[in-house]
Amino acid sequence: MSTSVSGFSKFSKSKKIDWIVEHYFSGKEETKEIIKRYWNSDSTLQQLHDEFIENTITNYYLPFGIAPNFLINNSIYAIPMAIEESSVVAAASKAAKFWFDRGGFKAKVISTTKIGQVHFMYKGDFDKLERFFKNVKNTLVSEASSITKNMRKRGGGILDIILVNKTRDLENYYQLHATFETLDAMGANFINSCLEQFAKVFTNEARKYIEFSDIEKDIQIVMSILSNYVPECLVRAEVSCKIEELTEDSTISSEEFVEKFVRAVNIAKIEPYRAVTHNKGIMNGIDAVVLATGNDFRAVEAGVHAYASRHGRYSSLTDVSIDNGIFKFWMEIPLALGTVGGLTRLHPMVKVALELLKNPSAKDLMNIVAVAGLAQNFAALRSLTTTGIQQGHMKMHLMNILNQFDATPSEKDTLIEYFKTHMVTHRSVIDELEKLRH
Ligand code: MEV
Repeated sequence: MSTSVSGFSKFSKSKKIDWIVEHYFSGKEETKEIIKRYWNSDSTLQQLHDEFIENTITNYYLPFGIAPNFLINNSIYAIPMAIEESSVVAAASKAAKFWFDRGGFKAKVISTTKIGQVHFMYKGDFDKLERFFKNVKNTLVSEASSITKNMRKRGGGILDIILVNKTRDLENYYQLHATFETLDAMGANFINSCLEQFAKVFTNEARKYIEFSDIEKDIQIVMSILSNYVPECLVRAEVSCKIEELTEDSTISSEEFVEKFVRAVNIAKIEPYRAVTHNKGIMNGIDAVVLATGNDFRAVEAGVHAYASRHGRYSSLTDVSIDNGIFKFWMEIPLALGTVGGLTRLHPMVKVALELLKNPSAKDLMNIVAVAGLAQNFAALRSLTTTGIQQGHMKMHLMNILNQFDATPSEKDTLIEYFKTHMVTHRSVIDELEKLRH
């Protein structure tokens, strides 16, 4: 029977494992062995990982794969991807090769502004609050100067702070809405430190402001936090070619392919059920690169999906056009990424990933990540509208099923050969494996 625990974080790693196994796995030694098998024998490396979070008991591996042949703005990249889904790297590589032969991807950062807000409550006259804000705005910036010093030296920092009246939506609710340029840093710590400083100075100054009544002096800070919605930190990725260049084989004509492809995008534009899956496919590519490069994929996910709903209905992130015989496929998405600070300095594999990408600036990385997303969507729509997704997917999944049933190397060879000409289903793989074994 499981139970609650106090002081768990103070237990040693072994004691944590003992406790978990005793209370949740009936003391099974086998579970302890599995957990410990994932420890790294290099104790320095293990300690590094232990200290990323609290209560670490082991490591959780994800495959780190490479999608080569990405031609982006005339440079060739091999893109690192950390992901468990079997077909993603293969699909990205296939799309990369396809577009390599057709001029490659073009990508461009449109804007790089990050956002943070101090949410506060004020019971009083708005005109007075506005006058107070105008008075105190420069002080807010100057009192954050020790936090912003290094960022300013490199050309970034606080861009602006505005006062926003939200009382129509929520009684007494206002914001300091601040914008930032954080250059190669994702900027979360920088922004949050600035915001907390704004909040402190703002409330202190309010207490001293002679125009305010006692109630007005009492500004209540609710919270100070960056926004992961960054619609002004935008990147655009695009591919284009002549329609007749679009087919690779004779099973489908270019015109037929284009028609099906455009229809698929148009469906994702107007149908949220489809749009979510369509965009999920895009995020397969995006998250994998974001994760491999030590960035915050939850922040990216949240921001991208909010952006997909910006017109009031959840919709496709990608778009397509046909003009004068030219097929153009593109996407604009918000991406707040960093190539300095955070995990980028700490995680050895993140360093490898960044070096593989030629030590990109945050803007370069925005380009690369957006391209990975566009490529993934192209690959998904290409298979969905032609062969169907299961053919490629199940081929990749074959290895997972074989591993699940502990297939030997020779069984794997035989069955991989067999399934080159037979349809892969979970059942058919098990059946063929059983036939081999008897
Ligand atoms: C699977 O992970 C992603 C797809 O479902 C995306 C899509 O449907 O466009 C194949």
